[in-house]
Amino acid sequence: MPKVAATTAEKIKRPHLEIKGDTLLSGEIKISGAKNSALVLMTASLLTDEVIILKNIPDLTDISGMEEILVSMGVTVRRTANEISLQGANLNHSNPPYELVNGLRASFFCIGPLLGRLGQAKIPLPGGCRIGARPVIEHIKGLKALGALVNVEHGVVKASVPGISRRLNGAQVVLDCPSVGATETVLMAAVLANGITTIENAAQEPEVQDLAAMLNVMGARVKGAGGPKITIEGVDRLNGCNYTVIPDRIEAGTFLIAAAITRSSITVAPVMPEHLSVVLKKLKDCGCSLEIKKNTIKIIPGEICSVDITTQPFPGFPTDLQAPFMALLTTAKGTSVVTEKIYENRMQHVAELQRMGASIRLQGSTAVIEGVPQLSAAPVTGGDLRSTAAMVLASLAARGTSQVEGLQHLDRGYSSIETKLNNVGAHILRNE
Ligand code: EPZ
Repeated sequence: MPKVAATTAEKIKRPHLEIKGDTLLSGEIKISGAKNSALVLMTASLLTDEVIILKNIPDLTDISGMEEILVSMGVTVRRTANEISLQGANLNHSNPPYELVNGLRASFFCIGPLLGRLGQAKIPLPGGCRIGARPVIEHIKGLKALGALVNVEHGVVKASVPGISRRLNGAQVVLDCPSVGATETVLMAAVLANGITTIENAAQEPEVQDLAAMLNVMGARVKGAGGPKITIEGVDRLNGCNYTVIPDRIEAGTFLIAAAITRSSITVAPVMPEHLSVVLKKLKDCGCSLEIKKNTIKIIPGEICSVDITTQPFPGFPTDLQAPFMALLTTAKGTSVVTEKIYENRMQHVAELQRMGASIRLQGSTAVIEGVPQLSAAPVTGGDLRSTAAMVLASLAARGTSQVEGLQHLDRGYSSIETKLNNVGAHILRNE
C-alpha cells in the first residue's frame, strides 16, 4: 500500500477549510461592517473622554486585537454581538505593549489621536507583512508638519508635542502618495490641533470618508474627505457619539466574485454600490449582469471572459480584491493581465492557483492569465488575508475537494466566511 505523501497527510492535520468544488450558490449573503473602517473608528475613541458607541462592528480577530490594545492604554470597552462602546476617559499611558501591537498594523492608527489628546505617544513600528514593507514615512512626515517631535529608535516611534500647551498646530500637509493610513493619522491628529490643516494628495477611500463623517458627528470640522484635499479646522474638544460603520466593500466584492467564479446568481446586502464602481464595471466587462439597487446588488454571471485589471488607490480597482478577482480570471475565456501597483509583493496566490491548474505567467507584479476550462482541487495555503480568500473562491469552483490553509489570515478579515457561504449552498467544513 503506497504511503500517503507525508506532506499531504500532515497538511490535513493543520487547521484548514475543506471545500467541495463544483458548487452552485443561490440566495442572499449579509455583508458585515467594514474591517478597515471599524479599526480606525475604534482608535478615534482616544480623542475624547466621552463614550463612543459603534454599531455594525464585524466579528473579526483584528477587532479583538484592537480592543486589547485600547484596553491596555486605559480605554473602557464593552462589546456585544456587533456593537462596541469605548470610553477613553482615563488613559493611563500612551505606549501599547509590543506583543499586542506587533500583530496588528492598524494599531499604528493610535499615534495620531494620542498626540492630539495627550501630546505624546510611543508606538512600536508596525512591521512589514507578507505583501510589502508598508512604511509609515508619510504618517511621520505629516505629524512633524503639525509640530510633533518624532523619532524612531529600537523599533519604536516616539512622538511628543513641545511647548506648554502640548497642542499641535495646523499646517499644510502634502502626501507623497495617497496613503490611507497616513491620511487617517494626520486627520485624527489635526482635529484637536490649533488652527487649520490641509491634507493634499489625500487617500479618498470610503473608510477615510467614514472616519471624517464620524469625527464631524463628534464635533470636528472636517471638509473634503473623499476628495484629494481635506481641510480640518481644529477644535478644543470632541464629544462622544453613536455611529454605524459602513458595510465592508471588500467582503461584498469577494462574495460577488464567489458567485461569478461558480457561475451562480446571488444577492449581497447591505452594500454601497458607489464604493465598488470599478469592481462592478469589471464584473460586467467579464460577462456578468448586475441588478443594482440602493443597498443591494444581485449578480447574474454569463459566459466569463478575460479582462485586464490594474490596482490603483480609490476610486481605482482596489488592491484588496486583486487576488479574489484573479481567481475568477483563471477560468475566464481568453487572456487577462493583472497588474498590482499598490504593494510590491501581493502575488503569493499565483503559485497556489498554479497548483490548482491555473495557467499564469508572472513577471514581477504583472500576471498574464490564460483561462482554463476548470481548476482542479488541491491542498493550498493562503499567505495573507486576501490571497487566502482567493483560495476559498477557487476551491468553490474547482473539480474535487480542496483543503485551504491560512485560517489565521482569513479570520482577520472575514467573519465566519464558511457559514455565510454554506448558507447559500456551499459545502465547507472548518477543521481547526
Ligand atoms: C490600508 O492599509 C488597508 N488597511 C489595507 O487593507 C489596504 O490594502 C490599503 O489601505 C490600501 O487600500 C487598513 O485600513 C487597516 P497605505 P494602509 O498606507 O493604510 C505605500 C486588507 O487586506 N506607502 O495606503 O497600510 C505602501 O507601501 C489590508 O484589508 C508608502 O510608500 O495602506 C503601500 O504600497 C491590506 N509610504 C501603499 O502606499 C507610506 O508612508 C498603500 O499603503 C505609507 C504607505
